[in-house]
Amino acid sequence: MRSLHSLLFAFILIEPLWAGQVPIVGDKDAPIVYMIRHAEKPPKTADGQDRPGLSAEGTSRAEHLVQTFSKTSKYNISYIMVQHPKKDGHRSRPYQTVEPLATSLGVKIHSKIDRDDAAGAAATIKNYVAKNKGNILVCWEHSQMRDIAAALGITRYSDQSGWTGPIEYPHGRFDLIWVVPTPYTQIATVESQKVPDLDDGNSPIPPENSARQSKSLPMALMTIVVAHFMYKLSFSII
Ligand SMILES: *[C@@H]1O[C@H](CO)[C@@H](O)[C@H](O)[C@H]1NC(C)=O
Repeated sequence: MRSLHSLLFAFILIEPLWAGQVPIVGDKDAPIVYMIRHAEKPPKTADGQDRPGLSAEGTSRAEHLVQTFSKTSKYNISYIMVQHPKKDGHRSRPYQTVEPLATSLGVKIHSKIDRDDAAGAAATIKNYVAKNKGNILVCWEHSQMRDIAAALGITRYSDQSGWTGPIEYPHGRFDLIWVVPTPYTQIATVESQKVPDLDDGNSPIPPENSARQSKSLPMALMTIVVAHFMYKLSFSII
């Protein structure tokens, strides 16, 4: 009787932990997909036209990515993929963002997929991860990253990430890295590129997402209180 109670108690205590925590990493040798947005852009012209290319800040971010994603960094990038740059210079920011890095790594940039072809991008990524071991860096315009994530099969942020809600790259950020390990169904963590001067003081968790973090401690305490109550109650049932 006593051991049955202990078992029940242990189950009640542990169950909420594993219920919310679907394993986020399968085969640890499988490639990791890193997704970033292109670097900062120049302001629009007086008549509201887009100016192609990167701003001075964007150029320094692109140059710094050589260090962020270097061979000796934890990211160990083997393959880089960006949206197709147009001949007139538009849609070229993702390419320009990773160009110094690609040169430094000696990696060729895959740039055949159209910006809006999320299915094509996802298929290329899936094909790559199925056949290779090295990690892949994907750089795109931020509004299309949601569609690529969906086409890949990413449905949510992991519980550990501290992020909740729909998968959207925030408009106001250029530094975030979506870390997507196999089986490519969750964004496991969101990291910052931490480019000096540009990202100083930036948390990988924007303020609108931080509520979840502060909620987790009270939730854990609540679980213990409820579990204790149910444990007591179980004596009167069994
Ligand atoms: C980086 O990735 C390559 C390709 O998978 C692998 O051969 C190499 O061992 C990795 N390097 C490190 C330091 O993990």
